Amino acid sequence: MKKILSKIIATGLILTMGLAFASCSSKKSMTVQKGKLIMATNAYFQPYEYYEGNKIVGIDAEIAEAIAKKLGLELEIQDVEFASIIAGVQSGKYDMGMAGMTVTDERKQSVNFSKTYATGIQAIIVKEGSPVTDIDTLLSGEYSIGVQTGTTGDIYISDDLGEDNADKVVRFSKGNDAVIALSSDKIDAVVIDNEPAKNFVAANSGLKILETPYSVEDYAICFNKNNTELRDEVDKALQELTDDGTIPAIIEKYIPSEG
Ligand code: ARG
Repeated sequence: MKKILSKIIATGLILTMGLAFASCSSKKSMTVQKGKLIMATNAYFQPYEYYEGNKIVGIDAEIAEAIAKKLGLELEIQDVEFASIIAGVQSGKYDMGMAGMTVTDERKQSVNFSKTYATGIQAIIVKEGSPVTDIDTLLSGEYSIGVQTGTTGDIYISDDLGEDNADKVVRFSKGNDAVIALSSDKIDAVVIDNEPAKNFVAANSGLKILETPYSVEDYAICFNKNNTELRDEVDKALQELTDDGTIPAIIEKYIPSEG
């Protein structure tokens, strides 16, 4: 009798321990490293992410910080090539990619996206006095166009120019390298997101943004397809941070609305 009782107790104990362990490890699996939220970005994209000294600041950095705080995690930002963010999220190197990243159907095949938190526009930067005055001239095949590798600017321009004019697409690892090439007449135009474009134009004289935007897009955070738990938690945090005014205030801080 005593033996049976102790057996029952022992089994019970093992069961509870097993359960405790299971719940513990399921929590742990929500992020790549316990207690951390590892975000991959490409930090040459003011006002979304850029360096101030050796700190990465900007809209994405601040929103991510607020999300991490809500989730009780410590944010770690890794600055990588834009074109390697999705692969790194897929392989489980990073918990999320946040880089003024546009939601596209093709990217949705590889990663899950959060709800959108901002709108982006692909803008066209040219030199003042440039013969390129609209999208039609831009895509005529006569002009070379600089883009950041793997961005929607790259994807759409490459598509629109087609194979015949594929040599007119000039890819750069950073947006500012494309702008420097434009300033020094190595290329004829740059297609890049509107807000960074404004910053580049403000920082380099003799450049302007064409009035017609090339495309309008939504920005969101991307996650590993297998980690819907983290995506859902982040979506919840995004909603709360929108409702309580945190996200609007962060955006207003970096992109002050006129008037
Ligand atoms: N919105 C564009 C895209 O998703 C460009 C994003 C580039 N982001 C960056 N942090 N450099 O393709």
